[in-house]
Amino acid sequence: MTAASLGPVLINGEPTAPSVASVSVFDIGFQRGYGCFEAMRSYGGRPFRLEGHLDRLARSAENLLITLPERSLLSEWCLRASAPGDGVLRLYVTGGTDPRRPGTDSVVVVFLEALPEIPDAVRLDLLDAPWHADGRTSELTGAKTLSYGPNLAATIAARQRGFDDAALVGEDDVVLEGPTFSLGWIHEGAMCTPDLGSHILASITREATIEVANDLGVPVREERFHRADLLGADEVFVMSTVREVLPVIAVGPQTFDRGDLVAELRAGFRRLVAEETR
Ligand SMILES: Cc1ncc(COP(=O)(O)O)c(C=O)c1O
Repeated sequence: MTAASLGPVLINGEPTAPSVASVSVFDIGFQRGYGCFEAMRSYGGRPFRLEGHLDRLARSAENLLITLPERSLLSEWCLRASAPGDGVLRLYVTGGTDPRRPGTDSVVVVFLEALPEIPDAVRLDLLDAPWHADGRTSELTGAKTLSYGPNLAATIAARQRGFDDAALVGEDDVVLEGPTFSLGWIHEGAMCTPDLGSHILASITREATIEVANDLGVPVREERFHRADLLGADEVFVMSTVREVLPVIAVGPQTFDRGDLVAELRAGFRRLVAEETR
């Protein structure tokens, strides 16, 4: 199965038929994974939290020293590409083809992908993530770069072991995130989620879910948590643009029941999306 675009692919704003949409093999985005990207959800043609995603893209580009087109153009392209309706709006910024001056002639690709089938719960394998920044900083700290190889490899390794995806653990058993989602759980009535200090991605869904928890009066704990904290949870869930808020029913050999609080957070997140994308 090949992922396809629900509408034309915008390449630097130019509508291009999906069957011929392409980026040069000399682009260092392709050759070295140098570039950045965003994934947003379009609900009925309206991207959820477009500004937050464009802010994060701007941070990624700044870290990589990539020059972005004007923000108003990026917004316009995102809105145009979202027009067909529901889907995953993908925005990629390549490193360009000038190896001496990476990031000066980037190509911006925007298209709307069909939503994948989303299960109603997931099972996660706990995997070590020795490549993860995990509190250390580098030029790329906080950037959502095209170099997602280790994340994808973790997902594949978890699938090979019979799970749906991975939950990543860093140095000293610190719980981090999933390869493409944030982690949360409920413990004694509070929503727990690893803090951004371990340099997990500043997830837009995580941020929105914290707002939902605050509105519902659910206490929120953002801390440096360890494996035992996650395994001792009452309910576990993942948060991401594609999956929204989704219950986790297993972490490694340990199983979890679907509980009321995650259901409330999920419903609250859906309400928030409906209000903001009306
Ligand atoms: C590593 C990682 N963490 C968390 C997330 C969730 O972020 P968001 O809620 O902005 O989709 C993603 C999304 O792709 C991700 O790649």
